Amino acid sequence: MPITTDTPTATTCFDQPLSQALAQVRRLRDEFPEGFPHGWTQDNRYVDRDLYGFPPGANVGWTTGFWTGLLWVAFELADDAACKASAAQHVGSFATRIRDRVNVDHHDMGFLYTPSCVAAWKLTADPLARSAALDAADWLLQRYWPQAGIIQAWGDLTDPEQRGRIIIDCLLNLPLLFWASNASGNEAYREAARSHLVKSRDFLVRKDASSFHTYHFDVATGAPLRGSTAQGAADDSCWARGQAWGIYGFALNHRFAPDLGLLAVARRQADYFLARLPANGVAYWDLAYGDGSGEPWDSSASAIAACGLIELASHLPASEGEHYRLEALRILAGLAQHCDGTGTGSNALLLHGVYSKPHGKGIDEASLWGDYFYLEALARATRGWQGHW
Ligand code: GLY
Repeated sequence: MPITTDTPTATTCFDQPLSQALAQVRRLRDEFPEGFPHGWTQDNRYVDRDLYGFPPGANVGWTTGFWTGLLWVAFELADDAACKASAAQHVGSFATRIRDRVNVDHHDMGFLYTPSCVAAWKLTADPLARSAALDAADWLLQRYWPQAGIIQAWGDLTDPEQRGRIIIDCLLNLPLLFWASNASGNEAYREAARSHLVKSRDFLVRKDASSFHTYHFDVATGAPLRGSTAQGAADDSCWARGQAWGIYGFALNHRFAPDLGLLAVARRQADYFLARLPANGVAYWDLAYGDGSGEPWDSSASAIAACGLIELASHLPASEGEHYRLEALRILAGLAQHCDGTGTGSNALLLHGVYSKPHGKGIDEASLWGDYFYLEALARATRGWQGHW
């Protein structure tokens, strides 16, 4: 069945995009059997990771977990032995990274360690993967400010610019803390995650269900100060990927904290996102923009939102969830039709993303997170796969 945004109801019509995506992961694995690709493409092609003066292909930055995660999904869904071997070999690199505190001055321990090491632990029972993921959760806990009840996103804890600043992306880092509590019996991880969720729910999400990218707290008094942006168009606009992190993040964390009202927040954020989504299902990089704006798409926002809509639907009664499941399929159809990298000369899965428009980075390029969540959404839609969050 050809894919169009008018015929999104049959999940079987995503079998072909899924197998094309898995084949693309395998080809990318053959290009990068050991090291890590850069987090986003240059002219739609991944090259060796090159960040902060580390050697090419080093395990640095916030996105390497997605590369390992792509390899694990290819192993799980296609039984690909080469992808499994590369992913398993990455575990040592993640263990060394957290042990030696290499470029971990930030909160992205969940992005790094859930798709890589938690997945490895669940799939292969590698004890090194388990201990590395627990070390990463410990490190994340160090960033918790108890008075404010929040986990600081970026930078050194003494940095006055960043002290007490949270970002909506962090919602995807929190499942690592819930996993760590369950794995270790230490409730401190869960308590920090729950507190951070409450603050995110109450301050990152505005009354109209749009979101601030970031919010600042006074860590001494705990007072909420102000919302702001880093990657959105304006402090009071709604960065598309941030809204998508909210949809997926609140819906996922509802798994672990069903008493916090997170599902209702995810649903309101989904309604806001869907009301501003172009007919083709591909979001512009900030929801202030629509067709005719001349602004670039951020396909990764749509891929993350599709995962979130599927997760949201799974927690709702079927009569209410079906709407969100169908919207997820509509988005996936649009991504497959307009953004598929396979057969284009690109070595990526999902074209037309944006890393950060205000910073001039990765504009109209593919990214490891866009590719990862596109594959995750395809796997969830077609196979009922639930991920390792
Ligand atoms: N977590 C960083 C980003 O979404 O760009």
